[in-house]
Amino acid sequence: MKYILSPSILAADFTELGRQIQATETGGAEYLHFDVMDGVFVPSISFGMPVLASIKNATKQVMDAHLMITEPIRYVEEFVKAGANIVTVHYEACEDVKATIRKIHECGAKAGISICPDTPADVLKDLLEEVEMILVMTVHPGFGGQKLIPETLEKVAEIRQMLDDAGLQRDIQVDGGIYTNNVEMALKAGANVIVAGSAVFKGSPLQNTKEFMEILKRY
Ligand code: DX5
Ligand code: ZN
Repeated sequence: MKYILSPSILAADFTELGRQIQATETGGAEYLHFDVMDGVFVPSISFGMPVLASIKNATKQVMDAHLMITEPIRYVEEFVKAGANIVTVHYEACEDVKATIRKIHECGAKAGISICPDTPADVLKDLLEEVEMILVMTVHPGFGGQKLIPETLEKVAEIRQMLDDAGLQRDIQVDGGIYTNNVEMALKAGANVIVAGSAVFKGSPLQNTKEFMEILKRY
């Protein structure tokens, strides 16, 4: 199992975005988390394809796009063309989840499926085999800087058990309210891809990334 840090640029200083992204790459973060919000599926609006297309040139990191948008199948191709290597969609936002996952694979990207804190793990039962990554939201999506909801880590453990029982090797990503002082709870629950926005970009992105990587290296 590989342990990966995926800094969320939602928390970055956009006047320093290129430099801050490079600091996370230097610090060892293999992914970069790209939070797309449409103001409909979540009550906030962030950024889209043009920003992804430009930052794609500033780094060699894996572009980990988290689409918090309704009917994401409409934009999968555009996000992959803009540079997304992984496209994660919300179970709650898709008319036809399997068709959306198929579309992501047809466009040549890896597929992730995400569930909100109030969505039970068993909705994913017949999707685990279809995707490369499961994103368990540890906050209600829409904003950075929130507090981790501890009960969501039980869902991480439940999904890790479902994967083990099915003999499936899949990444489990956690996202929201993750800091160096609680990340080990997520790792012990079974997560192996860690999204951190405020914890990385508030202060020194290089220093913060290195601190996370020190912890991940111990797993
Ligand atoms: C929330 C986003 C998260 C958020 C994480 O809807 O999906 O990725 O940016 O931010 P922090 O780490 O600041 O809680
Ligand atoms: Zn996210």
